[in-house]
Formats: sequence, C-alpha cells, structure tokens
Amino acid sequence: MTAPSQLSHPLRSQRLNAITHEPHSRLDQLVKSHDPFASPERFAHFVAAQYLFQRDLQALYSDPELTRLIADLPQRCRVEQARLDLADLQRDLPQGDERIRGQAMGTGEALAWLFVSEGSKLGAAFLLKRMPALGLSETFGARHLAEPEGGRAQGWKAFTAVLDSIELDAEQERQAEVAAIAAFERFTEHLERCFA
Ligand code: HEM
Repeated sequence: MTAPSQLSHPLRSQRLNAITHEPHSRLDQLVKSHDPFASPERFAHFVAAQYLFQRDLQALYSDPELTRLIADLPQRCRVEQARLDLADLQRDLPQGDERIRGQAMGTGEALAWLFVSEGSKLGAAFLLKRMPALGLSETFGARHLAEPEGGRAQGWKAFTAVLDSIELDAEQERQAEVAAIAAFERFTEHLERCFA
C-alpha cells in the first residue's frame, strides 16, 4: 500500500490509496485477529463478510453508466462466487441490509466504493496461498479470491486508469474520499458481525 506521504499525489488512485492506508492496516490486523485460516469454519465467516460487501456493491457493478466507463464491470463483481463459496463451506447466507444498496451515489463516490472492492483483489492473492492448507481453492470454497480473467495487475491498472481519468469538482472529490473510508468501515462492520 502507498505511504501517507502520497496524500497530494496528482493521481486520484494514489490519493485514495494514501488516505485508506491506515484503515487498510487496521482491517488487515482485524482480519488476522479473527484467525480466519484456523479452519474452514472460521474462513467461512470471512467469506460471509466478503459476500455482504459484494452484495452491497452489486447494483454498482451492473450500473449502465459505470459500465460505459469500465466495459467489463459486471464481470468484476464477486457476489456469485462468494455465494457459491458459502454453499461449498456449508454456511448459510448472512442476512444483508439495504443501507448501501439503496444509496444514491455520484460517479466519484461509486468509483471510490469500487476502488476498495477492486483493490481487495490484490490482497486476495496472498490469502489464496493459505487455502490449500484448508482444503480450499479457487474452484472450491475460495472462488471469490481467484485471479480475475486477464490477471490481477492488469485488472487493477485498467480500473485505476478510469478512476484517474474522470473529472470531479472539489465537492465530488471530497465525497469520493469520504466514500473510500466508508467502504473500509462497512467491510469492518460486516467482518465483526460475521465473526460474532
Ligand atoms: C475490503 C477491502 C480490503 C480487504 C478486506 C483487504 C484485505 C487484505 C488483507 C487481509 C491483506 C493481507 C494479506 C496477507 O498479508 O496475508 C491485504 C493485502 C494487500 N492489500 Fe488489501 N484489502 C482490502 C482493500 C485493498 C485496497 C483498496 C487495496 C489497494 C488500493 C489493497 C491492496 C493490498 C495490497 C497491495 C496487499 C499486499 C500486501 C501489502 O502490500 O500490504 N487492499 N489486503
């Protein structure tokens, strides 16, 4: 992750990276504190949080205006993979709510939420390495961590190119930054609920 000194970087993706550095570190620590790799049952709680987060963003991933900016956006959503993972792990689907799904968002805000979801695919490569020990893989129980078609790095590059190219006024820029932090808070909320 980028150091906080990048707060005034000319690229929006780098600025979002910088302002979410702290929440990302905290979330990383929180994930580890719940010992998700101790057993498939514990890992299932983490998958449940991933499912709820992807469910929050389901409508954004299929939004026609956003899809005009990012052609493969609908294929990037992992709600279905997370749902199948939960079935593999024999864990019931957690009950979601409409708080984020029902929220009207501007383009900057929407892309900031998607930034967090797409960014989490980078960390997923590390998590995937822990799966064989649990008897799980990108085709069973950990499908949502699988390498995206075309590769992780390429997918991230294509996403940030769009994020960096759209024009936002100062207020929209501020809203995007607030949204990136809110996305980390939301994931944290799901994580705490699913491990409770
Ligand atoms: C819901 C959001 C996210 C979650 C749950 C998440 C979770 C994690 C976890 C648990 C790790 C540690 C993997 C390990 O060391 O075993 C990690 C690493 C990583 N994450 Fe995230 N992450 C999220 C968002 C992001 C975002 C937005 C970015 C990029 C902007 C990102 C980039 C990375 C990178 C590059 C790593 C590799 C290790 C490092 O350099 O720190 N993640 N992530």
